[in-house]
Amino acid sequence: MSEKRSNAVDLSHHLSDIAKTLEPRSFGLDTDPGSINLDGGAPDIEYFPIESLQVQYLKPDAFPISPTDVLPHGSSFFGWIANMLTGKTPIAQFVVPRRLKAGDESVFELKTALSYSGFEGLAPLQKTIREWVTRVHKPAYNDYKTLIDLGATCAWNSALTILLNPGEAFLTDRYAYNTALAQGITRDARVLATWDEKARGLKRPRVIYTQGGVHNPAGILISAQRKRDIYDVAVRYDLVVIEDDPYYFQQASTPYIHGVAPAPKQQTDDEWLDGLVPSFLQFDYQGRVLRLDTFSKSLGPGGRVGYYTGSPLLISKLLGLHQAYLTFPSGLSQAIFGELLHRYKQEGFTRWLRGITAQYELRRNWAIDTLYQCLDIRVQNRALVAYAPTKGAMSEKFAHQSLLSFIPPDGGMFIWFAIHLHNHPRYQQLSHQTSPTEAKNALSLELFTNLINAGVVMRRGELFAVETDEERASRGEDDIFLRAAFSSGTKEQLEKGFKIFAAQVVKFFQ
Ligand SMILES: Cc1ncc(COP(=O)(O)O)c(C=O)c1O
Repeated sequence: MSEKRSNAVDLSHHLSDIAKTLEPRSFGLDTDPGSINLDGGAPDIEYFPIESLQVQYLKPDAFPISPTDVLPHGSSFFGWIANMLTGKTPIAQFVVPRRLKAGDESVFELKTALSYSGFEGLAPLQKTIREWVTRVHKPAYNDYKTLIDLGATCAWNSALTILLNPGEAFLTDRYAYNTALAQGITRDARVLATWDEKARGLKRPRVIYTQGGVHNPAGILISAQRKRDIYDVAVRYDLVVIEDDPYYFQQASTPYIHGVAPAPKQQTDDEWLDGLVPSFLQFDYQGRVLRLDTFSKSLGPGGRVGYYTGSPLLISKLLGLHQAYLTFPSGLSQAIFGELLHRYKQEGFTRWLRGITAQYELRRNWAIDTLYQCLDIRVQNRALVAYAPTKGAMSEKFAHQSLLSFIPPDGGMFIWFAIHLHNHPRYQQLSHQTSPTEAKNALSLELFTNLINAGVVMRRGELFAVETDEERASRGEDDIFLRAAFSSGTKEQLEKGFKIFAAQVVKFFQ
């Protein structure tokens, strides 16, 4: 493959009108460090009140690879106490000084982190990101570029800005990440399952929005073969693929199988990383994938740091957009995350990601185990279908009708429940009295409100729907959807939340 690699193809015909006006400009920020700066309005670095930052951080192996609990930072709670007593805490620290001195281990300094930096971001973080993308995603063309951004939400907005004009369409799944849709809809874009230019009154879409890793909200991971097929379609129809992928590393090691404890895989951290289902970028031999990565799920969303990977043309337009409108992510965030990654090195970051992925997998298993305790769950192909527990107060009739179903997530943070409204005792009557859409909305709101009153907040599926209520009703889609996150809290909170959910669903169907 490597001998045949070429540079990105020319995709300039995909640029929006705004993008055509954006050219990265030099502001003289990257001039010789010896030159006297009479440019700009940067405060003298001596006027910054922060002298240094001392950061305490968890070591890469703070979370075990085969955890039995989510108690903090160690193989077990007792292991954690023992570590504390013996001084082997999984915590290390670094300092970001005002100025680096010769021989410092740190590579970031407040002098640059607190100042206006180049729009490309801080140089050591740029290097780390470039090397990480090369290690993990191995794009199949030569001249790919990376650029630090302000997280995937902002990056998606920027991608839309440089690629679509108002009224143009992009393709995506029927249910997709709600924030991505909100931005698309405000741009007058339409999302399409099958395209009929005349009926839609819009040109054929040129952009696909997709998630390469575990999908939010569906919890599904697209296989490598399917990605290859989608990529081939993109080449055939000359599409740009936007790969928004916060959950790439959160691919569970084993599928959920009730009652079967996952057998820990004997593999090195490198083998784990290489064993993940590859991103679209890995199949991208033409530079038509714009990949959006974020540190939100690995280091913390408050940092607001992520990065794009794409062709020189797209990255230069995004850089121009940053210069014109967005500037750059906080230098402090870049310095803290950048120094952390510098300390971790690629091996350490890989181990860190593996440890937290194992945590999420354990949480997923607990959440589904809890549902098994509360509902009568039966396996139907890939899906788990839940019925009211036979010993419950439910009448004989409803005990034989399914309440909900879901596909055990391949990782990530969410379970995507289809609530079987077509089996709800009031749905048909309500539909006739009003309309299927109104009946769905009323019952969906009722369940959501009951859950809130019982102390559990989940996200309503309607927020992720690409089509309108009417379009979905005309397809005969009776079900409603709820997304539950299993990503945070203690085991007790998680179990309690899912128990309340199961009890409320049973009550709702009575
Ligand atoms: C699919 C998807 N894209 C983007 C984001 C937001 O990422 P960021 O925090 O980097 O803006 C999320 C967060 O939940 C997400 O699920």
